[in-house]
Amino acid sequence: MTKSPTIKKTPLMEQYEQETGKLAIWKGDVSKQFKKWKKKKKQEEIKQQKVEILTQSKMEKKKMKKEIREDRRAGKDYEHLIVVENLHKTYLLGTTAVAALRGIDLTIDNGDFIDIMGPSGSGKTTLLNLIGGLDTPTRGKIFLEGRNISMLSDNDLAEIRRERIGFVFQFYNLLPQMTAMENVMVPLHFSGKLSRRGKRKKAMDLLRLVGLDERAHHTPSELSGGEQQRVAIARAFANDPAICVLDEPTGDLDSKTGVMVLNLIRDLNKRGATFIAVSHDAAVSEFATKVFHMRDGKLTHEGKIGGLKETEIMQLKRRQETEINKEKCKSKIIQYLYANQGKREIVISDIKNNIPNSIIMNLPEHFNDILQELIEENNFFGRIEGELLILN
Ligand SMILES: Nc1ncnc2c1ncn2[C@@H]1O[C@H](COP(=O)(O)OP(=O)(O)O)[C@@H](O)[C@H]1O
Ligand SMILES: [Mg+2]
Repeated sequence: MTKSPTIKKTPLMEQYEQETGKLAIWKGDVSKQFKKWKKKKKQEEIKQQKVEILTQSKMEKKKMKKEIREDRRAGKDYEHLIVVENLHKTYLLGTTAVAALRGIDLTIDNGDFIDIMGPSGSGKTTLLNLIGGLDTPTRGKIFLEGRNISMLSDNDLAEIRRERIGFVFQFYNLLPQMTAMENVMVPLHFSGKLSRRGKRKKAMDLLRLVGLDERAHHTPSELSGGEQQRVAIARAFANDPAICVLDEPTGDLDSKTGVMVLNLIRDLNKRGATFIAVSHDAAVSEFATKVFHMRDGKLTHEGKIGGLKETEIMQLKRRQETEINKEKCKSKIIQYLYANQGKREIVISDIKNNIPNSIIMNLPEHFNDILQELIEENNFFGRIEGELLILN
């Protein structure tokens, strides 16, 4: 006689009994029918799981595809370094609105050297600041390396400025109490990627690049304007930015030094760096791959001069034209001074603003040099001090 063990009813057995109305335990043993039912149940479960996994992965794929589509639309799969779309910027001055940018569209590619020209107040600095992430637009979009930066938070913008953009300003903006090397080390410090030694080495390499390694331990006051600007360029390059933004980089330099700084920029550009410069300097546009003209917050003209070669006759003609402009410029300066007799100090940019842009932009020399020439020719008595013309 075999003694059948007592079988405990499992929850599954209870489910079977409820579903079929049959007993799961029959004559002291698990019923064959229950075993069959259990097997079927298991298979069904596996099948269901498979279906679930499949639909889930399908959904996941669909979601991924959608994201990729959206990213593409957002420019993540980008072909241009910078795309600017319908950019507007309006400043509020008390209760009046100043429309500084009124719908700008442009694209900039890797390795470009962009020159933005235009009269004072036309919105050049505003455009640079928006592209460089120093400010946000009122309307429109800016894609930097495919990322829409026009809506980013201040923190994200600061990170982009630190990692991707180098700035060079008209008045160098070096820290006066620090040496050239320490100035170049400032951005390296903020990015925090290098050791102390690494930072010193990198700063020295950058100073060598701009030809100032021997001046590394001088403070700005011990350096000339051109040297200070070269330090500023080295500093702008510290974090290997994708883009270097320059707002009138030669504006405060005499023409000879200006040309030296420009040559440096051109060399760096030839090595692959992308530059966006604002300038009144005709020499800048000669180096540029694209020239944009701005007026009243709009781009009025886009010219590509990269690859265009001047013939000798064209060169001669241009030189003649610029010489004529120089004469026109001189007489305009005299006119202005005559109209402002009695003043002891005149802001040089005020004189410039009274001369048509077509003349200012096509001079053979730097405006200040022409002013200096007038003084040396005894047309009037005075001297240039920074941004001012001091009259005796
Ligand atoms: N922070 C500001 N607040 C109010 N108006 C401004 C500000 N910055 C610039 N503007 C105005 O916007 C216009 C464009 O200025 P800006 O971009 O500096 O021109 P540009 O660099 O070509 O001289 C000007 O009319 C200027 O007065
Ligand atoms: Mg400006």
